[in-house]
Amino acid sequence: MEIKLQLKQNNSVDQFNFDQFQFGVEATDHMLVAKYKDGQWESATIRPFESLQISPLAMCLHYGQTVFEGLKAYKQVNGDLSIFRLDRHHARMNESLRRMAMPELPEALFCEGIKQLVGLEQDWISDLEGYSLYIRPFMIATEERLGVSISKEYLFMVVCTPMAAYYSKPLKVKVERQYTRAAKGGVGAAKNGGNYGAAYYPANLAQQEGFDQVIWTDGRDHEYVEESGTMNLMFIIDGKLITPPVGETVLAGVTRDALLTLAKDLRWDVEERPISLSEIKMAFESGKKVEAFGVGTAAVIAPFEQIHMDGVDYFPSVDADAKMFQLKQQLTAIRSGEQTDKFGWNT
Ligand code: COI
Repeated sequence: MEIKLQLKQNNSVDQFNFDQFQFGVEATDHMLVAKYKDGQWESATIRPFESLQISPLAMCLHYGQTVFEGLKAYKQVNGDLSIFRLDRHHARMNESLRRMAMPELPEALFCEGIKQLVGLEQDWISDLEGYSLYIRPFMIATEERLGVSISKEYLFMVVCTPMAAYYSKPLKVKVERQYTRAAKGGVGAAKNGGNYGAAYYPANLAQQEGFDQVIWTDGRDHEYVEESGTMNLMFIIDGKLITPPVGETVLAGVTRDALLTLAKDLRWDVEERPISLSEIKMAFESGKKVEAFGVGTAAVIAPFEQIHMDGVDYFPSVDADAKMFQLKQQLTAIRSGEQTDKFGWNT
């Protein structure tokens, strides 16, 4: 599939302050735009970043047919650029699109488009430690019609923004037992915009109580943990890594998968299985060493220093020798090219 190129006259990367910026506020110079109509992808163009003109009747503004992905590109120690797990993000975007009754993206558009865009925007990737380029592919329904039905027209776009650490300190989280992120048979496994919008209200209530985020529990009994904020959730209890299984209500996180692969490669005990609140309480109360953390593309690993559960506060370990940091270090070394990419994750 041909991707046309329209270059911006004067790039703005030289004016960008890499010492002080907020995640996702300033986009890089170019974006990819592709249109879909009546069963096929039409033109695809990489062109200067600019605002969209969209009809107020566009279906995405009303009925939520939107899907996004998030992935990162790095500057490696030898100066090469690498995109982390491009193929896996492509596969997951298509899984989300299927669930939202939206057209799938051919590899020649998703993967080639992102490679070309990242190549063009490489000056936006600082080689300072912890920096990367966050790549946001997304698709919206653009047919102009208020009738409630599957849109026949879509816009696929990719924008990029520079990125440093997503969270600057360990998190205080509250176990959410009233509101639900995802239910069996719902769209929790898709990266659909509505999942994130629906989480604001309970997250905001937790923030008013002094917590950074919530730990989501199952929609039926609120007895089993599922995710935290926008991340997958992991525990290391007495050295064993335990995480809820992916499925209808837990997103198949790419960072989650990478960390599990690394832990198994290190011959750690790893269990993917339901984790009840009583198991977590018991682990703390019996004096076991507990590490708890969120994992996701944006934050990589977000350690929890406090878990509030049914009126009681528990304090997982965030010591420098915590095992979670070994995993993070391994992942960082593979991404930066300091360690052999034996799993073939870098494009
Ligand atoms: C991720 O880290 O994978 C996320 O989904 C966070 C993003 C919505 C900023």
